[in-house]
Amino acid sequence: MEKKTDIVMSGIRPTGFLHLGNYFGAVRNYVRMQDAYTCYFMVADLHALTTLNETRELKTHVRRVMAENIACGLDPDKVAFYCQSHVPETAELYLFFNMIAYKGELEKTPTFKDKVRLQPNNVNMGLLTYPVLQAADILLHRATLVPVGKDQEQHLEIARDYAQRFNQRYGRDVFPEPYAFNFGEALAKVPSLDGAGKMSKSENQMATLYLADSDEAIRKKISKAKTDSGGLAGAAVAGKAESLPGLPPMSDAVSNLFQLLRLVASEDMVQKFAADYAAGTIRYGDLKKELAEGMVRFIAPIRERATEIQNDDVYLRRVMEQGAAKARASARVTIELAKDAIGLNYI
Ligand code: TRP
Repeated sequence: MEKKTDIVMSGIRPTGFLHLGNYFGAVRNYVRMQDAYTCYFMVADLHALTTLNETRELKTHVRRVMAENIACGLDPDKVAFYCQSHVPETAELYLFFNMIAYKGELEKTPTFKDKVRLQPNNVNMGLLTYPVLQAADILLHRATLVPVGKDQEQHLEIARDYAQRFNQRYGRDVFPEPYAFNFGEALAKVPSLDGAGKMSKSENQMATLYLADSDEAIRKKISKAKTDSGGLAGAAVAGKAESLPGLPPMSDAVSNLFQLLRLVASEDMVQKFAADYAAGTIRYGDLKKELAEGMVRFIAPIRERATEIQNDDVYLRRVMEQGAAKARASARVTIELAKDAIGLNYI
């Protein structure tokens, strides 16, 4: 396929285990982009250092997150999939951007303030300049499309500011402005199993399905998922008038189960349970069984593939080297343009 000219770039934090929310909210999106665009996907191991005191686990985390993304369909032959620390040009551009990054602005960034609250005894400069490093990640490839969630909007705004500021200060159009971008329709929301909120990396592990969960763990979590007293009466008690498209009104807990079912079951199956629900004859035990088997069918092959990859040192090394080589080739060009613009070109 002929690729579009826009460059896609995103970073993945090497912390925690990937869960279903990461899959439907991010990884699936990357996989869809890889045929259409030139893509750079990076494991943000340097960013991880801003919050880690203990780095002994870093290697395992990095290898796992790479293996899990590849098991989900990210193809290291189609994209540049690399580790941030393998591309030292990142640090070089980060240094240049530090000269146009204002301390006062960074101190006002909400993510910085959150981190200060979370780790008051480790307010390091890496934390303050986290968005500077992220701008360097993106602009290193002069990427314009950044597949990220809403929580990254502020960081993207900062990256756009630095792109503009750099171009203005040094009088050359080196950097384009990057924007959040998602492929195709809106990202699927993946609700938690306890009737509240979304699946998340660390909170409430019983309400989150991880791509590394065993079949038994998946079945157990789903069997314990919240429901209600049943049928429309349950919805009325919950006072929930609003309905999902094509479904009768229902309580949050049950609506979550239906949303999850939609991700892994056929539309016929969803409609069958919706009809049972509307008729007041639904058996949540049956719904959960269907959901559990659907999730096992979906997660088991990914889990098994990820484990295989994680244990394959030769393959992982090749992926990392190949990714770093592609990323560095693109980075070198940008660094030369930036140095030229700044006037760091004496020979
Ligand atoms: N800050 C991002 C996050 O918390 C991770 C990240 C690092 C990133 N560098 C990036 C995302 C570059 C997009 C582009 O998820």
